[in-house]
Amino acid sequence: MRDGDVDGWESSSKTMTNGKISVVGLGHVGLVTALGLAEIGWTVVGTDSDPKKLAAIREGKCPFFEPGLQQLLVKHLDSRRFVPNGNLADSISATSVVFICVGTPQKESGEADLSQLDHVARAIAEHSDGNLLLVEKSTAPVTSARWIARTVQQYSRDGVKVNVACNPEFLREGTAVNDFLHPDRIVLGVDCDETRDTLLKIYEPIDCPKLVTDLNTAELIKHSANAFLSTKISFINMVADLCEATGADVTKVAEGMGLDPRIGRAYLGAGIGFGGYCFPKDIRAFVHIGESHRVDMSLLKAAEQINLKRVDRFLEKLRARVWVLRGKTIGILGLAFKAGTDDVRESPALAVVRQLHSQGAILRLYDPQAMDAVRQALPEEPGRLEYVKSPYEVAKQADAVLLLTEWPEFANLDLAKLRDSMRLPVIGDGRNLLDPAAVRVAGIDYFSLGRP
Ligand code: UGA
Repeated sequence: MRDGDVDGWESSSKTMTNGKISVVGLGHVGLVTALGLAEIGWTVVGTDSDPKKLAAIREGKCPFFEPGLQQLLVKHLDSRRFVPNGNLADSISATSVVFICVGTPQKESGEADLSQLDHVARAIAEHSDGNLLLVEKSTAPVTSARWIARTVQQYSRDGVKVNVACNPEFLREGTAVNDFLHPDRIVLGVDCDETRDTLLKIYEPIDCPKLVTDLNTAELIKHSANAFLSTKISFINMVADLCEATGADVTKVAEGMGLDPRIGRAYLGAGIGFGGYCFPKDIRAFVHIGESHRVDMSLLKAAEQINLKRVDRFLEKLRARVWVLRGKTIGILGLAFKAGTDDVRESPALAVVRQLHSQGAILRLYDPQAMDAVRQALPEEPGRLEYVKSPYEVAKQADAVLLLTEWPEFANLDLAKLRDSMRLPVIGDGRNLLDPAAVRVAGIDYFSLGRP
């Protein structure tokens, strides 16, 4: 029995001086954190409020696709260094360090919804005896860690005091396991030496620069990093528009800029824009935080606006080739917000699909990982919206094929085979993945973003 088996943990694994580590919230961040900590030798109890998710985890089934995570899950259920537990009170009372990894979704206003953090803080107040370090891993607005500490203190019967820390995550979906085990830095926001020493001990097995700061600085590092990377993408997308207007090639501009080590080539990939659970919500939350402190955040507002227009710009190019969309068959290659994941939250690919669907196009969809996730939101409609099993089926009698996620397998398609099954040989590449010359040699009318 694994659930709740807190007394049976292996004595060979590392434990904190007076307990174990627990992770609250087993989503993309929490499950990777829990299993990553187990992998570096700690014993971890993981809690989640979703009984279905927890049941799958207990059976050794990773509830989402993340390369390498399934193997780690099975490995550490077996090693008993990872113990799923449905009872938050149990987990808290049996541990001395709690990593809080619950969601901070966005409200209508763009502000982060912190109710899950508040809920965990109040539960901790109820169940802890006070000898606890709370580590905020969830991405939350600056000053949230202080609020967590204050809330625990306010709600605990005996005025229990806990230590808090902010240890932001920089995990990318698709490479999260590697990012956890081989990070480029670990940021530790702390307010006392004891907390700093505990966290440095936990991360001792990981060799990378460790930056120790105060709490607010650590929170700002996380939001600033995501906002900067989003802005870099919007910057290159703006340049892509200028390249189109002047016949220049944005991939070469990015290469030429990126060779300057002060700039770097990463996150200069032009296309249909950034999506996912993090960048879009974090940039809005950051704007909200800044404006609540009367800071001019117009730079980030512009970056967001540029991003919002990418899908429309791409669809304009499609219309310039096939004219009316109603009744046209459009094949879709890729639904995930990026390659390497089955996540479709705020996916620009899905935004394209929804627009085409609302305009009466007939859609044939394929993604190597994300079809199940999309099926729930967009159920199959025979003759109008179908999920198919291969990229070549997507092209069957299509008036155009749109490549929307940069899955490596799409880079090596047999273009002649694709062309032969299409009604009109038109390919729109929203990720600038294909070689324009090769596609044109195959006799296909090709468009991408920012390339001549
Ligand atoms: C992002 C950050 O990269 C992580 O460091 C951070 O920990 C995470 O958010 C988070 O806050 O949890 P992730 O959302 O997994 O990670 O995705 P990225 O790989 O950063 O890509 C984000 C979006 O930008 C994707 O839609 C991707 O297609 C797009 N992108 C990326 C571009 O359009 N162009 C590029 O050159 C790079």
